[in-house]
Amino acid sequence: MQYNITEINHLIRHRRSVFPNQFMAGKKIDDDIIKEILINAIWAPNHAHTEPWFFKVFCNKGLQTFANFQSELYKKESGTSFKENKYLKLQTQPLLASHIISIGMKRNADKHIPEIEEIEAVACAVQNIYLSVSAYGLGGYWTTGGVTYMNNTKSFFGLEEEDKLLGFFYIGYVAVASAVAKRKP
Ligand SMILES: Cc1cc2nc3c(=O)[nH]c(=O)nc-3n(C[C@H](O)[C@H](O)[C@H](O)COP(=O)(O)O)c2cc1C
Repeated sequence: MQYNITEINHLIRHRRSVFPNQFMAGKKIDDDIIKEILINAIWAPNHAHTEPWFFKVFCNKGLQTFANFQSELYKKESGTSFKENKYLKLQTQPLLASHIISIGMKRNADKHIPEIEEIEAVACAVQNIYLSVSAYGLGGYWTTGGVTYMNNTKSFFGLEEEDKLLGFFYIGYVAVASAVAKRKP
């Protein structure tokens, strides 16, 4: 066998989401590791080789730019449902991460692949990110919270109107490990 299947099984079954409040706040991961993780992401299966993913990486001062963007957009868009604690969370939580990757689906120009398949391919890429983060001993999670589904987000994350923002992947060093999880058979 080419791979150590015991280790691969263990990696897949012990990968956990690690949330920002479990990170070593703001401790920076080497950019070269993030690049390797993103190379793994783009080896995901994708129908007709459309490679529909689009990632934008925020780190260092970019984390503050990200935090300002999402908190101010929330303030602008939320109107009467505005909540001060949500605004503060959007402003402060990104700074706990080392890197935040925005997850985009870029629609292929001739649209010969159904949109759902392009989204599915990006989800496969995100699973590659999850497993790679775990294999490096780092922590992270995919969030579709924050401004993911708000209006007026796309251009900031390098997307056009026909594309989709699918959320954000936060990555950091782990201070507090996630609890053991369960799955139904
Ligand atoms: C498409 C998608 C969206 C998610 N969005 C959120 C989110 O907005 N907030 C959150 O806390 N977790 C989010 N998660 C992470 C899940 O909470 C997590 O995967 C789940 O609790 C199972 O835990 P595990 O990843 O450790 O197996 C998301 C996961 C997926 C696949």
